[in-house]
Amino acid sequence: MAALRALLLRVRAPLRPVAAGPPPRPFASGAGFEYIITEKKGKEGNVGLVQMNRPKALNALCNGLINEINRAMEAFQQDPAVGAIVLTGGEKAFAAGADIKEMQNQTFQNCYSTGFLSHWDRVTHIKKPVIAAVNGFALGGGCELAMMCDIIYAGEKAQFGQPEILLGTIPGAGGTQRLTRAVGKSLAMEMILTGDRISAQDAKQAGLVSKIFPVETLVEEAIKCAEKIANNSKIVTAMAKESVNAAFEMTLTEGNKLEKKLFYLTFATEDRKEGMTAFVEKRKATFRDQ
Ligand code: CAA
Repeated sequence: MAALRALLLRVRAPLRPVAAGPPPRPFASGAGFEYIITEKKGKEGNVGLVQMNRPKALNALCNGLINEINRAMEAFQQDPAVGAIVLTGGEKAFAAGADIKEMQNQTFQNCYSTGFLSHWDRVTHIKKPVIAAVNGFALGGGCELAMMCDIIYAGEKAQFGQPEILLGTIPGAGGTQRLTRAVGKSLAMEMILTGDRISAQDAKQAGLVSKIFPVETLVEEAIKCAEKIANNSKIVTAMAKESVNAAFEMTLTEGNKLEKKLFYLTFATEDRKEGMTAFVEKRKATFRDQ
């Protein structure tokens, strides 16, 4: 009985706010999270916000944190009201990488047989657009997690890096692949081989980040962008995302073929009809995600 009471108290424990400001509205299906805070944002509650909240460890991505991010992302994916998701951390760190303390005694045999870190890329299977709002450190797995998102916005003091080489290892959650595609070979090699970090400004110049904002307004700006996306047709947005992502996997000819098929498919939707009809009738389109 005492154990049951203790468990109930733990589940009902209030979520800890990370930054100054009013405590966030809890997320119905997200009660009980230990490492993240989730909320619905935007005027119509159509943006899902996932905030990593392990500030003492600079949001080091322990297994529990990754599992909670995956759960929250999947819950927002299933939520018909949500059209886009923002993933953020705290002001000092988006995430300082995989949890080194958790990895310290890991063995090759265990990594290999359990598929260590293979559940990290679930974010890439989310069909709704995901925006990473990066303040502070995005290092190692933190940089890799941001790169799994569809858009990266950075706070002006953000720092990106793949410092695994300094720990005697290499990036293991897509860093060598996604960073190289994002910033090109020379800068990716330099970052991965030296472990040096780059600033938000350099990240923007290199194409890793699309916009930079003051630290305090970053998340708000990411939510505004997510809201804009969420106001469009969800089904057509998913097709656009699929088509852009194909550019990283296919040849130009194959990618163009897929794009054409998806373009044709938009003509099977009510939303395409509504969008064009609204334009012709000089009114705002109302998308029903059909
Ligand atoms: N794992 C576990 N704990 C971490 C951590 C990590 N990646 N990064 C920071 N922490 C912990 C620190 O151990 C410290 O905890 P204690 O207070 O209990 O000692 C706390 O967070 C604060 O960190 P610092 O005192 O080091 O803070 P700082 O401001 O002096 O330095 C930092 C900040 C430069 C980010 C530094 O913490 C750092 O270099 N962190 C490690 C970055 C890193 O190497 N990331 C790559 C990890 S490997 C990886 O990600 C593999 C992969 O590809 C998946």
